[in-house]
Amino acid sequence: TQERRTRATAVAHPNIALIKYWGKRDENLVLPRVDSLSMTLDIFPTTTTVRLAPDTGHDIVTLNGRTAEGEPLRRIVAFLDLVRERAGSACPAVVDSENTVPTGAGLASSASGFAALAVAASAAYGLGLDATALSRLARRGSGSACRSLFGGFAVWHAGLDAATVAEADLASHAEPVLCGDLDPALVVAVVDAGPKTVSSRAAMRRTVDTSPLYEPWAVSSARDLTEMRAALLAGDIEAVGEIAERNALGMHATMLAARPAVRYLSPATLTVLDRVLRLRQDGIPAYATMDAGPNVKVLCRRPDADTVAEALRGAVADGSVVVAAPGPGARPVHEDG
Ligand code: PMV
Repeated sequence: TQERRTRATAVAHPNIALIKYWGKRDENLVLPRVDSLSMTLDIFPTTTTVRLAPDTGHDIVTLNGRTAEGEPLRRIVAFLDLVRERAGSACPAVVDSENTVPTGAGLASSASGFAALAVAASAAYGLGLDATALSRLARRGSGSACRSLFGGFAVWHAGLDAATVAEADLASHAEPVLCGDLDPALVVAVVDAGPKTVSSRAAMRRTVDTSPLYEPWAVSSARDLTEMRAALLAGDIEAVGEIAERNALGMHATMLAARPAVRYLSPATLTVLDRVLRLRQDGIPAYATMDAGPNVKVLCRRPDADTVAEALRGAVADGSVVVAAPGPGARPVHEDG
C-alpha cells in the first residue's frame, strides 16, 4: 500500500569500539584514518520512524518526544538530504526517534541513532539498500554508526588502499568479524552523565592536526587490529581485552598530547581503572576501554559480569553500572496495518 511505501520504522543498538576510530581523512565523507572494530551491545536500542510528509514544507524531527532544533536537527536534515538525493526525491519527512539510554547515561547515542535512521529513511524513500550500502550510508551521519548495522563484532574498513576518494567512499563500510567461542560481556560504568565538553568531531580534528603521538598510534592501531582479529577467532578473552585496553589508552594518549590537550578522562575514570587492575590481580580477566568521555566500559567473560559489576559499583559511588552482552544489528521493524 501507499502507507507501507512511505513510512518505515527501524531499531538499532549502540556499539563500543575495541579498536578505536579516531581521526578523519575526509570530514565531509566521514572517511576515517584508521580501521576500527567494535562490539554491538544488547542494551539501549534506538527506535526511529520516518514518514514522508509532502505537505509539511520542511523536515520535522522529534527526539525522545521533543522537537529537535539547532545542531542535532541540522545533522539529521543533512542526512535526509543524502537519502533524498539518491532517491531523486524532494519530499520532506517527519522523523520520530526514541532512545532508551537513560537520560544523560553518558553513552553516545549517535551510533544507534544514525544506524536506525539509515535503515528507516532508506526504506521510507524506497532505496532498497543492502546491509553494506546501509553501513556506508550510516557512516555519513556519524562514523561509528556504520558498525551498528551489524550485530556482535564488526570491523569498519577505512578504505586506505583506495586510489581515489570516490573509491574510498565505496570501500569504507563495516562488516561482521569472524569470532570463536568468546561469551563476552561489557560492563558499562557511568561515572559522569553530563554532556561532553569537546565534541568528538572537534577533538579528532585537533588531535590529527596537532598531536605528535597521532601518527605512531595510527600505525600501532593497524597492528592491534590484526592481532585483535586473531584473538577473536581464537576466543582468547585475555588477548582481546589486553589489545582493546592498550588501543584505547593509546588513543587517549594522542589526545593528551594534542595542543591544547583534550582530556576526557576524569579522576573517577582513573579510580575505575585502578579497580579493573585489582580485578585482574584477583584473577578475573577484565579490561577497560574509554571513548570521548569519562565513562568506562569493562570487557570480561559473561560468567564474571556480575562480579565485575559489583566491583565497579563499589568504585563509582554515585554512578551507575549496567551489564551488556553482544546485541543484534540494525533492522527494520515490521509494523502491522
Ligand atoms: O562516531 P563519532 O564521530 O561519535 O566518533 C566516535 C569515536 C569513538 O567513540 C571515541 C571511538 C569509536 O570508534 O567509536
